[in-house]
Amino acid sequence: MKSLYQLLSDKNGVAVAPSLLAADFSILEKEIREVEDSGADFLHIDVMDGHFVPNITFGPMIVSAISKLAGIPIITHLMITDPGKYIERFVKAGSSVVTFHFEAMESGHQKIIEMIHDLGCEAGLAINPDTPVSAVKHLFEDIELLLTMTVFPGFGGKGFIDEVLVKIKEASDYREKQNLSYVIEVDGGITPDNASSVRENGGQILVAGTAIFRSKNYNSSILAIRG
Ligand code: DX5
Ligand code: ZN
Repeated sequence: MKSLYQLLSDKNGVAVAPSLLAADFSILEKEIREVEDSGADFLHIDVMDGHFVPNITFGPMIVSAISKLAGIPIITHLMITDPGKYIERFVKAGSSVVTFHFEAMESGHQKIIEMIHDLGCEAGLAINPDTPVSAVKHLFEDIELLLTMTVFPGFGGKGFIDEVLVKIKEASDYREKQNLSYVIEVDGGITPDNASSVRENGGQILVAGTAIFRSKNYNSSILAIRG
């Protein structure tokens, strides 16, 4: 299986990951087929536990069902307390990348990353809009994905926080300087209008829920976000 880094290189460094949170769940299979046929590169699955964030969404059983339908890799975004308890189940459910939040724990991040790697999966680290890049730099050598949130996690359809763009640039510049290889994913409030600034500042996997699933034409939305 190709690494996230390789997959992204094959796509010239920019990819679009529709967030299923905004899909119509009563026709989920059709929604998945439709975004795939419309050129989606990855599926972004938002797991919320009603504790780390105030919303509750999918568990590993649903991720497993989705992975059986999906023809593209799944990036699972865990917005849960105590991620170590559930990592194995989300890996086994068919995630290609498992992402957990830096803010979900006081310490032990390195251990979680190792756990994900030992299960044969790639590791993503997510940071909230108010967490500085400097707080997580010590983990950059070990992760395959840095997820910079451009909304506070919990719900789809919120407004993009422009101030995060400087953090995306900082993470991108740092990676070049240090010759590291983590991929930068950006998530929250992305639209065809702000996607170019995300890409220009170093965003590589652009997540979009509302802007794709609530649009009339998934293909044109995906193309516009990819640029
Ligand atoms: C927010 C989630 C996002 C969000 C994206 O907590 O992590 O993935 O659903 O949806 P939009 O594009 O609607 O902001
Ligand atoms: Zn997400």
